[in-house]
Amino acid sequence: MSVQGEQAPKAPRDVDLTKPSSARIYDWYLGGTNNYAVDRHFGKQADEQFPLIKTLAMSNRQWLGRVVRAALAAGITQFLDLGSGVPTVGNVHEIVAEHAPEDSDPRVVYVDYEHVAVAHSEVILQDESEWAGAVRADLRDPEAVFNDATVQRLVDLSKPVCVLLVSVLNFVGGGDDVPGVLNRYRQRMAPGSWLAISHITTDDAPEDGAAQISALAESYRKTQNPAWLRPRAEFASWFDGMDLVEPGIVHLTDWRPDEVEAVFPDLEKEEVRPFYWSAVGQVR
Ligand SMILES: C[S@@+](CC[C@H](N)C(=O)[O-])C[C@H]1O[C@@H](n2cnc3c(N)ncnc32)[C@H](O)[C@@H]1O
Repeated sequence: MSVQGEQAPKAPRDVDLTKPSSARIYDWYLGGTNNYAVDRHFGKQADEQFPLIKTLAMSNRQWLGRVVRAALAAGITQFLDLGSGVPTVGNVHEIVAEHAPEDSDPRVVYVDYEHVAVAHSEVILQDESEWAGAVRADLRDPEAVFNDATVQRLVDLSKPVCVLLVSVLNFVGGGDDVPGVLNRYRQRMAPGSWLAISHITTDDAPEDGAAQISALAESYRKTQNPAWLRPRAEFASWFDGMDLVEPGIVHLTDWRPDEVEAVFPDLEKEEVRPFYWSAVGQVR
């Protein structure tokens, strides 16, 4: 496991084919093709180290879908997806297009610092530019995100926005001041906005699973994105000063499970259950 006080590396300057990237490895876990040999090689090793990794990635992706649908049902139609990754099944703008109320004016902005992720996001949004866009930025710099022209054009910060940090703070170090970064986002979010976070953990994991995922986190040190596992107390502290949306802080398979799990229908939920914390906080 990476050392708590360390910072994650700087944003990649270009497409780096010498080291696997979390964006492209995750695409491989989900069965995508926007990845390179280094990423596939790492993915296969990860799969051997922790055989639940693909199922875990899929169940995280499904949580993202449930949160987006819940936000829409709660009347929020703007989404800022930080660390959005390579477009794959169940993209936020697709869920929004399908589920947003007819008379609403939905907005979606993807933010990632990995070039392949952003390039592919731009391609799939070519015909959606009136309401959706992709931005290359480091989420650890909230001011750069908010000052970006696409964010300014699409997101109206006087209205509630759902900020998504789905399986991404795993790649932000203790030395990167996660609470401070989150606070800088929260200060710009209108009352009623949602902050949705999922994060890898071992708190309730069986001993063998915890050892496997800790070894996998150690392996991520060789990639562009060293990974951090975090305990519930640290995760919970990120929502201080917010109202937790029901059901509060839970393993992500327990967060409003529903019948619309169309993306990956056959997940073994109980097995993956202990490995992720999830919660949505509402800005007061
Ligand atoms: C595991 S993927 C998660 C993708 C998506 N959020 C999901 O859960 O389906 C993590 C993503 O976070 C991005 N990422 C990591 N650190 C970042 C940072 N500091 N700024 C922007 N993106 C970052 C990676 O490039 C990668 O695309």
